[in-house]
Amino acid sequence: ASSLAQAGAASGRTIGAAIAANLLGNNPYTTIVQTQFDGVTPGNEMKWQTTEPSQGSFNFGPADQIVSFAQSHNMKIRGHTLVWYNQLAGWVNNVPASQILSVMNNHITAEMTHFKGNIWYWDVVNEAFNEDGTRRSDIFQNDIGNAYIADAFTTARAADPNAKLCYNDYNIEDMNSAKSQAVYSMVQSFKASGVPIDCVGFQSHFIVGQVPADFQATLQKFANLGIDVQITELDDRMPTPASSANLNQQATDYANVAKACLGVSRCNDITTWGVGEPDSWVPGTFSGQGQALLYDSNYQPKPAYTSFLNALGGS
Ligand code: G3I
Repeated sequence: ASSLAQAGAASGRTIGAAIAANLLGNNPYTTIVQTQFDGVTPGNEMKWQTTEPSQGSFNFGPADQIVSFAQSHNMKIRGHTLVWYNQLAGWVNNVPASQILSVMNNHITAEMTHFKGNIWYWDVVNEAFNEDGTRRSDIFQNDIGNAYIADAFTTARAADPNAKLCYNDYNIEDMNSAKSQAVYSMVQSFKASGVPIDCVGFQSHFIVGQVPADFQATLQKFANLGIDVQITELDDRMPTPASSANLNQQATDYANVAKACLGVSRCNDITTWGVGEPDSWVPGTFSGQGQALLYDSNYQPKPAYTSFLNALGGS
């Protein structure tokens, strides 16, 4: 196998990248997406502030561009994300509390109906927990209460019964963390009570040298609940400019992530959160850090690319 996608496919894994509609057509970015990956996640285009910028008024144009790009290249699409406190349209905060549940359900139904049949897995709810395992205080939690997540999944199942439904979060990759345990308990209770959930997405925004040693065990622990597990937003940041020691450690980290997924039969997707340094969210968010992806500032493959490819079984 000479591409990430071919290597992953040999063991039934999809290898995806988060992409941006406004970068499609740029090269070498677009060529890399087409030749190396067989999955895409829209990085921003399916988020509420873009898709329902005012109440009942929907804008699917940017996301549609990504969907048609993906379909014309036989790529699977992860829908990201329906219910999230961030990148939420401002008007939602002015909705009376008694109407938030119907606003949430309407948003889920309208967006999933638009993309019906085209989405492989949907991130239905994103980042709903605090680090200590309590629920994040946001408008959905505060106005609907604990049941909002189950409500969202039930609504999502009805809207597109063929799409798989994920809960997606970060800092859940180590099973010893309070947040990982809280998400686990939620999924366990959903399975016990028949709330439809198919998957947990482990965002996997790592720091170089700090991939949890128990990542594979954590994936397996969740998979044992009878769900799929996916690595949905992988990157591995370091101080910039990058040292060669850190680039080598990063190569080890990416290989370890690939091995963790390959070691769990229900881990069927690894998606990196971007392609190369110019399209990464990291430098804009963490001052002085970056080089978190497989390609460098000129879209040349880094040591991590080769080690990730090799760990997937390619060369
Ligand atoms: O579109 C505007 C543009 O018009 C404006 O000129 C520019 C100047 O600030 O901002 C642009 O919007 C930016 C948007 O990305 C699109 O590029 C926002 O400022 C910026 O905050 C936003 O960041 C996104 C971030 O989510 C917001 O939380 C990143 O691109 C996106 O990669 C990131 O993705 C999240 C996942 O959805 C959930 N998990 C964490 C992950 C990383 O934060």
